[in-house]
Amino acid sequence: MKGIILSGGTATRLFPLTATTSKQLLPVYNRQMIFYSLNVLIKAGIKDILIIVAPEHSGQYLNLLGSIFKDYGIHLYFEVQKVPRGLADAFIIGEKFIDNDSVAMILGDNIFEKDFSKEVKNFQSGGLIFAKKVKDPERFGVVKFNQEKKAIRIVEKPQQWISDYIIPGFYIYDNRVSKVAKKIKPSKRGEIEITQVHNYYLKQGELKVSTFQGEWLDAGTFDTLLEAGQVVKEKKIYKNFDPLIEKAIANFNKELKALAKKKLL
Ligand code: TTP
Repeated sequence: MKGIILSGGTATRLFPLTATTSKQLLPVYNRQMIFYSLNVLIKAGIKDILIIVAPEHSGQYLNLLGSIFKDYGIHLYFEVQKVPRGLADAFIIGEKFIDNDSVAMILGDNIFEKDFSKEVKNFQSGGLIFAKKVKDPERFGVVKFNQEKKAIRIVEKPQQWISDYIIPGFYIYDNRVSKVAKKIKPSKRGEIEITQVHNYYLKQGELKVSTFQGEWLDAGTFDTLLEAGQVVKEKKIYKNFDPLIEKAIANFNKELKALAKKKLL
């Protein structure tokens, strides 16, 4: 399975913090936010990962991640999303990268405590997305279940309450997903909505929606960004990184220290 991290966007809710850098490069406790989504994919055994970034931040991403995994068997690829056209655009930008494989796509500002290795390993075809109960469902894509706990309806930011279960930013799809995404017409807010991808697979009877345990945060506002740092520290999520990432970061820090020393001499 391939992995995609969607890490562009404009992050208007975090202005002025994001006037100088990308949201997903802001710190969440002791590392940049993007390491949490990288960790989800790497922990799940995914080795080929496409990172989609906004053009103005591409240099920063390359400086941080360009060589960090080169000795660890993880291959990172980069693409630029010129305009934030919507979440489903990730599957269009990533079409050639996905090729004949399945893909796990994660939003770069989402933080999960859960290890998704089993779900990734057991995935065969169709779509697998997840659901979490929250207090403010109207801000997200919302899923309604029937009495047998089967998903029956998915609506983007519903104006009227339909359910407390929202769909967090981690989605697994088979390789039809790029074709499906290409057919989506922009919504009223001008975005190619991922909800439409979910609904396509739902209609085909090929979408699984699973609830899951563990913390989930979307670090896109001042409050959730602060909360993310606190939760990561309190629940020791930062101690649960894949050893490979730990080694890569430790090595990166060593190189930085050596460089800093040279500059001081
Ligand atoms: P959002 O939080 O919906 O958008 P944003 O990050 O631009 O922030 P704001 O609403 O404050 O302006 O995006 C969710 C994630 O998806 C986030 O990691 C950014 C990313 N994204 C893209 O990379 N490209 C896109 O076209 C969109 C819509 C989002």
